[in-house]
Amino acid sequence: MNSTEVYVLFGPPGVGKGTQGELIEKKFNCSRISTGDIFRENIRNQTELGIEAKSYIDKGELVPDSVTLGMVENAIVEVAKNNSIIILDGFPRNVNQAEVLDDICEKYHYVLKCVIALNADDNVIIQRLSDRLTCKKCGTTFHKIYNKPSKEGVCDKCGGELYQRSDDTPHAIANRLDTYRSTTEPVLNYYQHSGKLAEIDASASPEDISKTVFKLFSS
Ligand code: AP5
Ligand code: MG
Repeated sequence: MNSTEVYVLFGPPGVGKGTQGELIEKKFNCSRISTGDIFRENIRNQTELGIEAKSYIDKGELVPDSVTLGMVENAIVEVAKNNSIIILDGFPRNVNQAEVLDDICEKYHYVLKCVIALNADDNVIIQRLSDRLTCKKCGTTFHKIYNKPSKEGVCDKCGGELYQRSDDTPHAIANRLDTYRSTTEPVLNYYQHSGKLAEIDASASPEDISKTVFKLFSS
């Protein structure tokens, strides 16, 4: 059997990781693990992990590695049972997490194929986050201007209710951008000489970006 292939979707908040992740899942019939989605599901279900994570997420800070790492390893191992391609959306987010991902790949014989780093200017990001709508039930994202749902307030995919995320306030967005620049962006240096880093300008439309992203999978 071939080794499970791992792709990382990397980039600042609101750059379109989830949007591209959904398009990749549809096109290549693979599974995406979004650490943010896992945290939000735990918050909805008021688990111990969710209660701890919420205090960090609402402030725009990273959830500590002591909470995140075990959760991610379990999720990867579970998804790898039925998938030969895994997309990681929002992990790794600091250099320690990048090192741990290498350890996980070595331990379970997965192959880290590519780190897809999306980027866009802060003003583009702020506009995308400020008018984002997210489905309460399935997590699908919409946008009040760029990607309107067919029926206002209702998810096209599952009929769930659309809401504005609690970390999409101006204050939390500013903190998330600061956290990204100080703690997450240095991960790019970690992968700089690995030959696995693909940096992509994500200021175009989702469809145009996905044309470039999809090529990384077919190659
Ligand atoms: P997470 O949920 O991952 O949030 P994020 O990284 O801030 O990214 P977003 O989900 O906000 O944006 P996105 O890049 O997915 O953009 P989207 O496709 O939705 O994490 C939340 C929090 O959890 C973190 O702040 C942290 O506290 C914690 N956390 C998560 N992972 C962690 C980890 N590994 N370690 C520690 N803590 C962790 O697009 C945004 C909007 O723009 C949408 O409305 C969309 O429709 C629109 N859009 C997308 N692409 C385009 C385009 N090309 N043109 C126009 N509009 C577009
Ligand atoms: Mg997302």
